[in-house]
Amino acid sequence: MILKNSVGIVTGASRGLGKAFAEALLKKEAKVVICDIDHEEGAITKAEFDEKYGPNQTTFVTCDVTSPSQLKDLFSQTVQKYGKLDILCNNAGINNENIWEKTISVNLVALIQANYLALEHMRCDRGGQGGSIVNMASMSSFQPAPHAPVYTATKHAVLGFTRSLAEASRLGNFGIRINAMCPGFVNTSILETLDQEEILGMFYQFKDIGKHIMHLFGVLEPSVIGDAFIQLVEDDSLNGAAMKITASKGIQFENF
Ligand SMILES: NC(=O)c1ccc[n+]([C@@H]2O[C@H](COP(=O)([O-])OP(=O)(O)OC[C@H]3O[C@@H](n4cnc5c(N)ncnc54)[C@H](O)[C@@H]3O)[C@@H](O)[C@H]2O)c1
Repeated sequence: MILKNSVGIVTGASRGLGKAFAEALLKKEAKVVICDIDHEEGAITKAEFDEKYGPNQTTFVTCDVTSPSQLKDLFSQTVQKYGKLDILCNNAGINNENIWEKTISVNLVALIQANYLALEHMRCDRGGQGGSIVNMASMSSFQPAPHAPVYTATKHAVLGFTRSLAEASRLGNFGIRINAMCPGFVNTSILETLDQEEILGMFYQFKDIGKHIMHLFGVLEPSVIGDAFIQLVEDDSLNGAAMKITASKGIQFENF
């Protein structure tokens, strides 16, 4: 895919990995709609991007991805403003074992909803122009984590959903490539949840296991994952892929 003048949506893009994905697209001269529940940090990020890349390149939309109506509006506003949609990055995610139903709502239910909305806009077999969807999975898509069972369950599910929808897209000639990113630990605020009792709940007693795994894997910077994201979006041969990125081994595609 050629990214210049393409149009992408990145969810949860006020900070962290979402911000890095949005900036990676902007560097390629794409137009980006960034959405987040946190509108204060979103406004700061939008102002920073306007300064660097020009005011018409980025739009910020306040959106709680767990609200079906807000999610629908996000897609409508994108197409209204920029005339099309080529890329969706489902990045918004939380780690909270205490309010675990919310973790499932944000990490999985909303992600599925956003994939289906993107299909409506992009499907070639229904008059769309095709496109690329990247779903945020994790190394937690492959391994057990005693300190975060529900987070881990959502990331396993995201990978299974992504691979299945990718196969449906191939068989149904949707013209949409759907891939999963599976990074190890990345230096964002989500790492602060690893030792918070109010977040880990009854699994707090296993917090040191999470930290031990983090020290084994090492911690990457968001911009490194941003570059890997561009590879996944640009490479037209990739569909149903699980791109793993770790500090120790770099980029590796899982062989299923
Ligand atoms: N940082 C890591 O080590 C790591 C590793 C693997 C995968 N991931 C995944 O990457 C994604 C981004 O995480 P991050 O590390 O940048 O965390 P982060 O906490 O820094 O950023 C998450 C963003 O999502 C937003 N968000 C949360 N709930 C939302 C909602 N309901 N609607 C809209 N926006 C919402 C937050 O406001 C925030 O801006 C998540 O899906 C996470 O699971 C992170």
